[in-house]
Amino acid sequence: MPTLPNNPHLPFGDQRNAPWYGKDILSVSQFTREDLEYIFAVAHEMRIMVERVGTFDLLKGKILANLFYEPSTRTSSSFTSAMERLGGSVIPINEVRYSSVTKGESLPDTVRTLDCYADVIVLRHPEVGSAALAAKYARKPVINAGDGIGEHPTQALLDAFTIKEELGHIDGLTVTMLGDLKYGRTVHSLARLLSLYKVKIHYVSPEILRMPPEIIEELQRKGIEQTEHTRLEEVLPETDVLYVTRVQKERFEDPAVYESVKDAYVITPEVMKAAKQRMIVMHPLPRVYEISMDFDDDPRAAYFRQMEYGLYVRMALLAMVLGKA
Ligand code: NCD
Repeated sequence: MPTLPNNPHLPFGDQRNAPWYGKDILSVSQFTREDLEYIFAVAHEMRIMVERVGTFDLLKGKILANLFYEPSTRTSSSFTSAMERLGGSVIPINEVRYSSVTKGESLPDTVRTLDCYADVIVLRHPEVGSAALAAKYARKPVINAGDGIGEHPTQALLDAFTIKEELGHIDGLTVTMLGDLKYGRTVHSLARLLSLYKVKIHYVSPEILRMPPEIIEELQRKGIEQTEHTRLEEVLPETDVLYVTRVQKERFEDPAVYESVKDAYVITPEVMKAAKQRMIVMHPLPRVYEISMDFDDDPRAAYFRQMEYGLYVRMALLAMVLGKA
């Protein structure tokens, strides 16, 4: 494996006094704007390093436990890829039903176990607050990879990084969040994170899937201009970032209610004729019905590039909490 070039301009090295060393990443509320600038700078360097050498040994010998109680493709595999590209290794526990969880083991005990074997724990769990609970029992850093309908901070960081890399800046943009704003944890985290910038946010959703009022109030207190709509046409022409989300089927108690809203909005080349030429369409993925595959080849479709940015942001976060950035 290539060793890291001795380049004084790269923000890498042993930095155990660094502010993120040993810290948990539980919510976007932990971050300041300066933190984001720093994370983006490290993520940008990670991108350059991956393009240049692919894999390097910044986290050689370190072990990540990937503990997933809910399905995941991107988050789990991008954390694995991030750790391995940095020379570390991974204990994958993606199928908790084959672990002692099936025997009735509690989250604190499972976390205490992985704490003995790993240097960092990535957790996805269906309950809000689960990552904070895990962090209470772990001495090692815990990274929240989605706690039910609560937060998904690493996704919001990679979303903001995507906007920055694609459009060059975040201040001054109009961001439209579309779809399931009630149950979608990615939009909960992203709205909070964007409140560190001077943005205007439009929420477009079916009546029953509106953004939770406590989040709207939180952003209002920070002076963010926000509007709510049910029709995308009202805001699409002025949108710089259209953030599309999946209707979160697994959170609905009544399947008939899900059926009634599942294809409330579908992004097609026809719909996108009303949008700017210089703007981007994002989606945390997986998509189901909400973006037609016919739109994938449009240069404004940024959702596949967004996945790749996720790798660099997660590499940056791992390096930071393990004291190497
Ligand atoms: C999202 C999630 O798990 O919240 N997926 C992801 O992490 N990229 C979005 C979703 O499942 O709809």
